[in-house]
Amino acid sequence: MAYADLREFIERLDDAGELRRISAEVSCELELAEIATRVMHNGGPALLFENVTGYERAPTGPAPPVLINHFGSPGRMAWALGADDIEDVAARISELLERDPPQGLGEKLRLGGQLLRLASWMPKTVSSAPCQEVVQDPPDLRRWPVLKCWPADGGRFLTLPMVFTKHPETGRRNVGMYRLQVYDGQTTGMHWHRHKVGAMHYALHERSGTRMPVAVALGGDPAITYAATAPMPEDLDEMMLASFLRRKPVELVKCTTCDLEVPADAEIVIEGHVEPHERRTEGPFGDHTGYYSAADEYPVFHVTRITHRRDPIYPATVVGPPPMEDCYMAKATERLFLPLLRLVLPEIVDMNLPVVGVFHNLAIVSIRKSYPGHARKVMNGLWGAGQLMFTKVIVVVDEDVDVQNTEEVAWRALNAIDPRRDVVFAEGPVDALDHAASDPFVGSKMGIDATDKWPEEMKGREWPGQIHGDPAVRERIDALWERLGLG
Ligand SMILES: Cc1cc2nc3c(=O)[nH]c(=O)nc-3n(C[C@H](O)[C@H](O)[C@H](O)COP(=O)(O)O)c2cc1C
Repeated sequence: MAYADLREFIERLDDAGELRRISAEVSCELELAEIATRVMHNGGPALLFENVTGYERAPTGPAPPVLINHFGSPGRMAWALGADDIEDVAARISELLERDPPQGLGEKLRLGGQLLRLASWMPKTVSSAPCQEVVQDPPDLRRWPVLKCWPADGGRFLTLPMVFTKHPETGRRNVGMYRLQVYDGQTTGMHWHRHKVGAMHYALHERSGTRMPVAVALGGDPAITYAATAPMPEDLDEMMLASFLRRKPVELVKCTTCDLEVPADAEIVIEGHVEPHERRTEGPFGDHTGYYSAADEYPVFHVTRITHRRDPIYPATVVGPPPMEDCYMAKATERLFLPLLRLVLPEIVDMNLPVVGVFHNLAIVSIRKSYPGHARKVMNGLWGAGQLMFTKVIVVVDEDVDVQNTEEVAWRALNAIDPRRDVVFAEGPVDALDHAASDPFVGSKMGIDATDKWPEEMKGREWPGQIHGDPAVRERIDALWERLGLG
């Protein structure tokens, strides 16, 4: 089911008892984040702060409520994508990818129907939109309840923005979520890491010395917001992904001051540009690693116009020591991108990016091992697959290990490794937030081959059998069990 906008999703959360309205006066400077962090750490509900202070609110302008933690549980994350269980969405993706070539006429027609439906999920452009009901004149970011999240943060940050850019040559759209530090009413930092697509578009503009149009949207159907965080291949449009997820085209409207389109149902849209070769200190920022990311030089976003709904809602999140709201978004990505990963690494059975590994630090994968050295091939494949290139530690286990059960993984892995033989070190790009790497953007990675070793991998020693009870005895005891009264 697609939501018409963010407020329809809020209604759904409210009806399900998954939303708390907070009428007490709460400052967007640290207080709101403190409350939200406590709630996120306890697996609590979405929060709608209705009386937010701590910013230069305009006497006659909007006083937006702040929505936070609406993605913050497995259930709410699935609902955000129009499903009850994220695995149902993953199954839709698998079905799309796993189709054998159609055989008879009936099957061809059915496939044709599916392709038509896919085509009907292409985003479409509309001429007027709720997100452009009001123009804030002059545009002034200080009039919005932008959060300062942690005490040593360099300032206030927009934390849930969808950043729209275009490839300057192909015109292909990209949407990424990159935080924006508010410097004053009309400028922010643009924190796209150098590996991200927004930064690549910017690099092309810098090469040609041209100004880069950028539009930032806040709110809308939560599937659209999620899509901005998804690690889509460079030339694939996140708005197509969003349309697929919501089974309905995303409606886009042209910006009023630049040649970009943004979701018509958004709450707030910030239009502007980034100048080539301009940098300003951004950060520090309490990040999703649980540490502050250091202040650094980043491009500057110049705001030319802000449009919004008549009664806008300001969506935000707080990142910090896990588990926080973004963990559920990342877990959704783990599930939804597994079928795509299997296209290049079909031997992968399951994958777990544990929340405590803050996603780039640890991946545990189970594989159908078919030859000696297979685990190493999988590690190299993962380090070559999109944003998984950042993964610092990869643990590869056999298909019978449940990677979602980290106790089981530890038991099997620790029994299966000879550290000198089974630990592999590699070099490569690291996440911009990896503060432990000796260099800011390159560092080492570790792969652990924790699969059972095959004779070719063991230099003549035999691998022992795992302990399992005798099947016939187990069956007899199963039949007897109830009568033993042992629970
Ligand atoms: C809440 C949240 C905040 C994020 N902030 C940033 C950020 O400031 N900079 C960045 O490069 N990536 C950030 N990310 C990750 C990117 O959104 C993600 O890598 C996305 O796939 C990038 O899109 P792209 O591949 O189109 O560049 C954030 C993700 C989330 C969920």
